[in-house]
Amino acid sequence: MNILVLNGSPAGQNSITLQTVIYIQQFYDQYHFDVLDVGQRIKQYEKDFSECKEKIKAADLILFTYPVYTFLIPAQLHRFIELMKEADIDYSKKYASQITTSKHFYDVTAHRYIQDNCDDMGLMYIKGLSADMEDLLSKKGQHEALAFFRYVQWSYQRGYHEPVLYAEKKEFNGIEPAIPEREVLPKRGKIAIVTDTTEDSPLYRMIQRFQYKTSFETVVVNLKEFPFSGGCLGCFHCASTGKCIYKDGFDAYLRNNIQTTDATVYAFSIKDHGMGYRFKLYDDRQFCNGHRTVTMGKPVGYLIDGNLDEEPNLRMVIEARADTGGNYLAGIAQTKVIRIRKLTGWQIRYSMR
Ligand SMILES: Cc1cc2nc3c(=O)[nH]c(=O)nc-3n(C[C@H](O)[C@H](O)[C@H](O)COP(=O)(O)O)c2cc1C
Repeated sequence: MNILVLNGSPAGQNSITLQTVIYIQQFYDQYHFDVLDVGQRIKQYEKDFSECKEKIKAADLILFTYPVYTFLIPAQLHRFIELMKEADIDYSKKYASQITTSKHFYDVTAHRYIQDNCDDMGLMYIKGLSADMEDLLSKKGQHEALAFFRYVQWSYQRGYHEPVLYAEKKEFNGIEPAIPEREVLPKRGKIAIVTDTTEDSPLYRMIQRFQYKTSFETVVVNLKEFPFSGGCLGCFHCASTGKCIYKDGFDAYLRNNIQTTDATVYAFSIKDHGMGYRFKLYDDRQFCNGHRTVTMGKPVGYLIDGNLDEEPNLRMVIEARADTGGNYLAGIAQTKVIRIRKLTGWQIRYSMR
């Protein structure tokens, strides 16, 4: 069996997660393991995917190996999956599984995110291993790592894999409710609409409609316009200094444009079962706050182009974002199920008091 390890950790060969693969590898010298340092080389692979394409084509099993970052996978691996989907590759005869390390804080949503994306690509998904950061230091952790790989081997040899969960997407019936009357509310408060929209898209029109309907002042912060140097490197420099090691000015951008407002509305189109690469960069880079919540009590809302009802894992991530930040989740409006009036009206006003 040819095993291609997609190492999504920005720590590269020093990744804690990768050590689990190295540990397993010692017991399986009949298999060929190849590692792509996706977390460190994403910029290079964005320019030229050919090496990755050849390695993916040669693989029987693709092993996604990464640290859990803000409920999901690191932004760099997120981008790599986009590139995998764009490449002309037949995944249908390949297996996939995953290994993570984390503090078990929403590792379940990260695992589910990989599973959903494997289903999209037609990869045959085998249940993964979610280890704690220190697991490999104990006999129990070592035992669990080997038991996981025995299961992968067993599944591969028998052609066993998890059933596809959301293969057939239901079409929306197209009935949208009429635009309701404008509510008159006192202007007190400013809402940051954080988005990655392009003009003249359903999402853009949704934002315009929201701006029209709300009686609060709004400012649109488009993440597409921010020159991110890259995804969080997990170096923990910020934990002691409160400053990110990148010099692209994201800390100030976040603090001046978003954290100063009274409420935040995130506007995005569902992509690959998530909020898209730009939002993942944004989420991971918020680690620059030194892993502290800084918007506690502030209401958040969502404008979503897509049908969240078909994405239970993404809904859980959205709820987790509000929950862990101590934010009040004021409402979620979707293109397919319009609830803008509710979001613009009393829910945000009430929670701003
Ligand atoms: C930006 C960032 C976000 C993180 N988010 C989570 C998280 O949501 N849940 C969790 O359990 N651990 C989280 N962690 C901890 C990492 O998953 C953990 O340190 C991991 O074992 C690092 O593995 P690596 O050395 O392979 O990169 C986060 C770490 C960083 C730097």
